[in-house]
Amino acid sequence: MASIIPRAWKRLRLSKTSGWVCNDCRRTFATSRVQRQQQPPASGQHESQDPKSTHFGFQTVTEELKAGRVANVFSSVASSYDTMNDLMSLGIHRLWKDHFVRSLNPGSRNSVEGQKILDIAGGTGDIAFRMLDHASNINHDNQTSVLVSDINPEMLGEGRKRFATSPYKAAGRVAFLEANAEDLSAINDSSIDLYTVAFGIRNFTYKQKALEEAYRVLKPGGVFACLEFTPQLRNPVMNAIYKRWSFGAIPLIGQVVAADRDSYQYLVESIERFPSQEEFAGMIRKAGFLLPGHGGEEEGMQGAWEDLTMGIAAIHKGVKPA
Ligand SMILES: C[S@@+](CC[C@H](N)C(=O)[O-])C[C@H]1O[C@@H](n2cnc3c(N)ncnc32)[C@H](O)[C@@H]1O
Repeated sequence: MASIIPRAWKRLRLSKTSGWVCNDCRRTFATSRVQRQQQPPASGQHESQDPKSTHFGFQTVTEELKAGRVANVFSSVASSYDTMNDLMSLGIHRLWKDHFVRSLNPGSRNSVEGQKILDIAGGTGDIAFRMLDHASNINHDNQTSVLVSDINPEMLGEGRKRFATSPYKAAGRVAFLEANAEDLSAINDSSIDLYTVAFGIRNFTYKQKALEEAYRVLKPGGVFACLEFTPQLRNPVMNAIYKRWSFGAIPLIGQVVAADRDSYQYLVESIERFPSQEEFAGMIRKAGFLLPGHGGEEEGMQGAWEDLTMGIAAIHKGVKPA
């Protein structure tokens, strides 16, 4: 990893007229992308005002097109997704996911049935594995099960492969469902104890609709939990450094390691389009959930969300009223 990033950076120079230029291939990487990421959309503009158009990264596309474009991205990255995640986040995504799962403490020491967990946009099963490990090893609960749901059959295929030889599969503690998070009609009302979504919701076309579906399928007292990147770090200096890294290096790593620059360009652009922690907490509340703590006015464990690693990512939670 250490050798990839400096090499990638050395290939780039910033031209006043053309933006970033690759010294090797002479390709320009639009400065406008960098400039636009320095001017995030004004508050409230994350969900397009025009009901027929929406965002695909920094592009405006019709709503019908978006799901297909997102599907292409994840079909393209599915086989390299786990490796790329490690490279892009320097392995930090693993720590965030571990923390996310620990904070939810899945499984129950006393329940005979265990919990029913729904992991939305579950992709390659990273969260599901951790949930089941935690329930089994920490809470000694061998009943809790996870339904991994994703819109993309290729991502689910990678997840199925990972679970194929695991004892969880044999014990019937994991199942897979191909579904759009905005329409979970295959899942009954009030049937789920814990709904998780990690690094998925920023890709959804109708995030509010997905939150309403989460509310519908959760039991009263059930918990909604989301781990997602945030569009801005609180510290402006760290934010500038981080944006340079993400817009400069991540698409290049995608190009070098997975021969797929555009998908990784989309992944960083989609982070810019995601609502701020405050706005997203408001959307969760609008769907009917109770927010823990002070409803967004205070950060930290007692607030409506928890910032991770200087606010690069955040965990939001909501509880369906009993
Ligand atoms: C960045 S991956 C995250 C995978 C996994 N949760 C993790 O943390 O490693 C995003 C996932 O969201 C899925 N996705 C995108 N739009 C979706 C939608 N509307 N409904 C369900 N899943 C969706 C993609 O197919 C992809 O598997």
